[in-house]
Formats: sequence, C-alpha cells, structure tokens
Amino acid sequence: MKIALGVSGGIAAYKAAEVLRLLQDRGLRVQVSMTEAAQEFVRPLTFAALSGEKVITGMFEAGAESPNIDSAIEHISVAQSIDALLVVPATADVIAKFAQGIANDFLSTLYLATTAPVVIAPAMNVNMWNHPATQANLEVLKKRGVRIVEPGEGYLACGMTGPGRLAENDLIVAAVLETLGISQELAGETVLITAGPTREKIDPVRYLTNRSSGRMGYALAEAALRRGARVLLVSGPVAIDPPAGAELTRVETAEQMRDAVLQLLPQATIVIKTAAVADFRPKSVADQKLKRKGPLTLDLEPTPDILAELSRRKTAQLIIGFAAETENVLENARKKLSTKALDAIVVNDVSRQGIGFDSERNAVTIITHDEVIEVPETTKLEVAQRVLDVVARLKNRNHIVSAQHT
Ligand code: PMT
Repeated sequence: MKIALGVSGGIAAYKAAEVLRLLQDRGLRVQVSMTEAAQEFVRPLTFAALSGEKVITGMFEAGAESPNIDSAIEHISVAQSIDALLVVPATADVIAKFAQGIANDFLSTLYLATTAPVVIAPAMNVNMWNHPATQANLEVLKKRGVRIVEPGEGYLACGMTGPGRLAENDLIVAAVLETLGISQELAGETVLITAGPTREKIDPVRYLTNRSSGRMGYALAEAALRRGARVLLVSGPVAIDPPAGAELTRVETAEQMRDAVLQLLPQATIVIKTAAVADFRPKSVADQKLKRKGPLTLDLEPTPDILAELSRRKTAQLIIGFAAETENVLENARKKLSTKALDAIVVNDVSRQGIGFDSERNAVTIITHDEVIEVPETTKLEVAQRVLDVVARLKNRNHIVSAQHT
C-alpha cells in the first residue's frame, strides 16, 4: 500500500521523518511531497534518503526550460496511485487551502485530485489553532470526512502553552492504519516466515530445486507487517523483493534454512513455514562439473525435516505449516498436522492450474484442530490475510487459556 506524506512548513516538519519511518516499518510505501515553506525547515534530501523515492517539491521542475508534461501532471498520477494522503504537520495555511479548495501548489492540488482518504495532523501556535477561522476550516474538513489527529497540549516552540503541539507519532500512525483498515492485532508478535525454494547442489553448476517463487511467503510477510508484527523472513533464492520492514535472512539449502530458522526461533512467537524445502539432496556433491557421458544415477538422501524439528524444539510458539499436495489433499494435510504437531496447516492442491507454485494466486484450505476454512481462489495477499485471521484467533485463544491458568 502507498501513502502520500505531505509535509508543510511548521517547526514540527522534522517529526514527519520519524512518522515516515514508522509507516515504512508497517510495510507501507511512502511518497513524500513538501511545500515550499516546509523546505525552509527540513531539506528534501532527508526525506528522499529515508523514503528511497524522489521527494516532490513543486508542481513544475525547477529551472526547466520547456515545461515537462510528466511533472506537470504528477499530482494526478500520485493522486491515483495512493491509498491515503497524510499531512504532517498540517499548518493553518494548508488547512485553510484544503477547506477552501485552493490548489496553488503540489500538496493542495493533490488534495483536490485524490479520492483516497485524507488524514491531517495539525501543529501550530495556540492562538492560530484557537482562531475561529482555523476552527471553522477544520469543521469543514471534518464534515468532508478528513480525519484530524488532534494536536496535544503543552509548551510550544513559540514559547506559549496550550493546544497546538503535533500529536504523538504513534497516534498519527494508528490513525493512518485505522483509515486503511489495517488492524494492529499482531502488534507485539514476532512472526518467523520461511519462503521460496531451496537449492541442493549436484556439482559446482547444477542443483535440485522446485518452482516456488516465494510469493506466498512474501505475501504473508507483508500481511503480518500490516497487522503490526515484527517479521523475520527466511528466504530461499527468489526473484522478488521482500516487503519493506521485513528482516530478511537469505539461505540457499535446506540445511542453511534449518540453521537460520532454529537460530531465530527463540525470538519468534509465531512460525509460518511456507517454504518449499527440497525433500532430498544429493548424498555427495561432485567437486568438478559432471561430464556428459553415459546414464547418470544420483544418490539422494532426505534433507532435515525443519518443521518436525521446530515442533520438537518450540516453547510457546504457534507453528503453522503449509502442505503442497496433488492427491488426497485434505487427508494428507491432516496427517501432516498431527505427525508434525502443528497448530494449523494450510494446504494447496498444487496440481490445479493457475494457483500455487509460481502464480500470483492461490486457493487453500486452512485446517486447525477444531476448524476447516476454505479460501477459494484469490490473490496470495488475500490468502495471507485469511491465514493471519486464523493465526490471530489461535493466538487470542492461547492468551485466554494462559490467563485462566494464572
Ligand atoms: O512460493 P510460491 O510460488 O508462492 O508457491 C507457494 C507454495 C506452493 C510453495 C506454498 O503455498 C506451499 O505449498 N508451500 C509448502 C511447500 C511444501 O514443501 O509442502 P510439503 O507438503 O512438501 O511440506 C510440508 C511442510 O513441511 C511445509 O511447511 C514445508 O515448509 C515443511 N518442510 C518440508 C520439507 C522439509 N525438509 N522441511 C520442512 O520443514
């Protein structure tokens, strides 16, 4: 999801940098735009470095000889691509422009051009805040559905005391997440997720692997971040980028995945094993590239069963497995649920076209010890959300049970 963060010209402009980091920690992409006045307080470079994106500082490219049509209509493309517009700090001037529909710079034009929800965090001198003009403008915005994160009271930079201080960062971020419909039910949890395939070496240039793209595991990582969790992602070799905010450990073989997972296990409260770990590896790896002569037989041995080992070593963690099946799908998944001592298993029929391995979509059945939930074909992010609904329920139930025993 993408947020446009508008920074306007107040002494609290520097605090927007921290808000930007917190939004990124939740897995959100942030596009920053700054008003001219904001640039007097903080340099755009600060936000460019933090967001990893160009900061928009005006409607037109400064110093351009001929008008650049791309930059002239940037407010439209940004307006259409964002899931919310957040303004930190929102000065009396910006609030007045939004209320009156004045569009004479990038931020005020973006406000008119976007249909995404708008959240503003005002900050200003106490008299400016209390002024009937500001209060009337705020009323107009509230009636239009703009969410206002009320300023706090206290000592202000102008030397006065009263309301006008920018709200705490956490309150601003919580308002944005709530507006986006992102729940925080996994806040405080650390979710360890494995994703992608493993590669088992045959010789210096060849290996055994499978078609896993990592998308299902990465979607789970993104969904867990959105719910406020810390995410430890252990990934086999894939061609996709991890979601911003996930703590990534790259591995190649099943053995390396096992070592990484067991090392991270004590930090985790929830483990989700989406990876398609190779079940077999060559018993020995040839030192030299194998020559192409005669028939070749590879002697294979089983790889360590990471999931089974996890279940033996776990303390209070919830352990969720995946099962890739092509026949007797539910029956086989149920067997894995009990033999691997899991809290839940997510099974996909990987013989079905268009879902599962290396696809954007999936269809799964989530099996716990007391419920079976069908998730018909949809995007992997949506599947991830349904899996996390179950995880959150199981977590909640465990909290209630342990509270009853204390
Ligand atoms: O990566 P994508 O392209 O998005 O595809 C997603 C997926 C199809 C890979 C995913 O949805 C999926 O089904 N993952 C599990 C694949 C798998 O290895 O299933 P399995 O039934 O062979 O294994 C059962 C469980 O044991 C899995 O949680 C697996 O991670 C685990 N396992 C398997 C072997 C092994 N040596 N150690 C393990 O821990």
